[in-house]
Amino acid sequence: MVTNRVPTTPFSDQRPGTSGLRKKVTVFQQPRYVENFIQAVFDTVEGAQGATLVIGGDGRFFNETVIQTALKMAAANGFSRILVGQNGLLSTPAASCIIRKYKAVGGLVLSASHNPGGPDGDFGIKFNMAHGGPAPETFTEAVFKRASGISEYKIIEASDVDLGRLGETRLGDATVQVIDSVEDYAELMETLIDFDRVSRLFRSGFRMRFDALSAVTGPYAKAILEGRLGAPAGTVVNGEPKPDFGGHHPDPNPVHAHDLMDLMHGPDAPDFGAASDGDGDRNMIVAPGLFVTPSDSLAILTAHAHLAPGYSRGLAGVARSMPTSRAADRVAAKLGIKAYETPTGWKFFANLLDAGLITLCGEESAGTGSDHIREKDGLWAVLLWLNILAALEKPADQIVRDHWAAFGRDYYSRHDYEDLETKAANDLMDNLRGKLSKLPGQQFAGLTVAGCDDFSYTDPVDGSVTPRQGVRILFEEDARAVFRLSGTGTSGATLRVYMERFEPDPNRHSLPTAEVLAPVVAAANAIAEISHYTGLEAPTVIT
Ligand code: G1P
Ligand code: ZN
Repeated sequence: MVTNRVPTTPFSDQRPGTSGLRKKVTVFQQPRYVENFIQAVFDTVEGAQGATLVIGGDGRFFNETVIQTALKMAAANGFSRILVGQNGLLSTPAASCIIRKYKAVGGLVLSASHNPGGPDGDFGIKFNMAHGGPAPETFTEAVFKRASGISEYKIIEASDVDLGRLGETRLGDATVQVIDSVEDYAELMETLIDFDRVSRLFRSGFRMRFDALSAVTGPYAKAILEGRLGAPAGTVVNGEPKPDFGGHHPDPNPVHAHDLMDLMHGPDAPDFGAASDGDGDRNMIVAPGLFVTPSDSLAILTAHAHLAPGYSRGLAGVARSMPTSRAADRVAAKLGIKAYETPTGWKFFANLLDAGLITLCGEESAGTGSDHIREKDGLWAVLLWLNILAALEKPADQIVRDHWAAFGRDYYSRHDYEDLETKAANDLMDNLRGKLSKLPGQQFAGLTVAGCDDFSYTDPVDGSVTPRQGVRILFEEDARAVFRLSGTGTSGATLRVYMERFEPDPNRHSLPTAEVLAPVVAAANAIAEISHYTGLEAPTVIT
């Protein structure tokens, strides 16, 4: 078979962000764009020769085209074994599981996560390392550098691999194995979760709705919930992955998963509701009549994880991203384990997990995970919730209210201002950073600033320092506002403002979140002069 070395010229915009290279589909469709980036990744991977590589994606538009290209390039670049999910599908957590299980040198995960798909939507390419987690910044910066000076890429001439048929084929000097997308992942879940107990829960008449949002988790949820656990057929809705996610925004939050929210707040709400995102790493948990914030979910899972077989020996520690509420810290303090605060993005958890410092971790953006893989894991979080529900024999909303009664409630909300001019967003952050030293002691909307900083993270394992990860403002009234710019957007800039307020009094645990947070919102707006810089009177999305 012929290996071609194809001359190319660089693109200047191939710098990966929070989760790999993410752009509009039309950007990826430019001739040589995909090839350049993949070659830059392969040139940066150490030990590619003779190694195993995993490839899979969330099934969005352009997935299969890029997979065929990636397979031929991997074969030309010396990988000897390539594992690819059937029909090109692998959820992000399944890819992480498979990389680890088969000792691959890494994996290409094709996804733009929760961003819309289709010809006018987004696409993404992310590289995960041998530990199964997203590549660290040293790696992604090396890829960017390589891509910025690239002059050729390698690809073999071959016909497309039949991704529908399980089994092995030769591709140049490499072996391609089309694997069942679900099997390895489901087996891993059986080692962590008490499947017998959860099956009994379903047999006892427990009703659940899992909304896969027409994204990659459908086949996983059907095989595990309706298959192995015996949940009634129809428990999983929107279970067929579609290239454009059925025109929906596959982001499991109260705004985009409104059908699930309506059902769970209606008269015929099932006992438990859940959803996951485009590539299956995010989760949403809804109790009857009560949306569980991801920050609370992390805290509740931390409190009860020992009820599941995979965590029966207790937890080493817990970590949350800085903007995530401090609810998990309160549980950690009670359990006598350490709580870590990391910058936004899953990659910062990997060192802590590898070093055995933490067992669970999570983010306010609906990501929760554990040391079983090195990605957040949507369905795993749902299964752990089911295990806890089965063990505690209490309704989901009761578990949440009992948790607040025991630990206090962290009211929480995030305001996103999307599609801003990049300059306006940067100016807002610069202005905010510029006034930090003068804020302590000042009053805004009746709240007094107790302290503030621009979060800088020192990794406790390797000592690396990641500065400028978001501005935090603490108020004397046990409230907090955090400001940062998104690193995953594909057009313009997005300002994220995270607000929370702690309420210890159980008599005040059923108030509307917007009411409790109103002073924090007003203070945040006043401090950052949000409407002045953005020209917007209100956020585009509130979650
Ligand atoms: C967003 C979330 C972050 C998450 C990332 C990838 O990043 O805020 O928590 O890790 O997506 O799913 P951002 O756009 O804020 O940089
Ligand atoms: Zn995702």
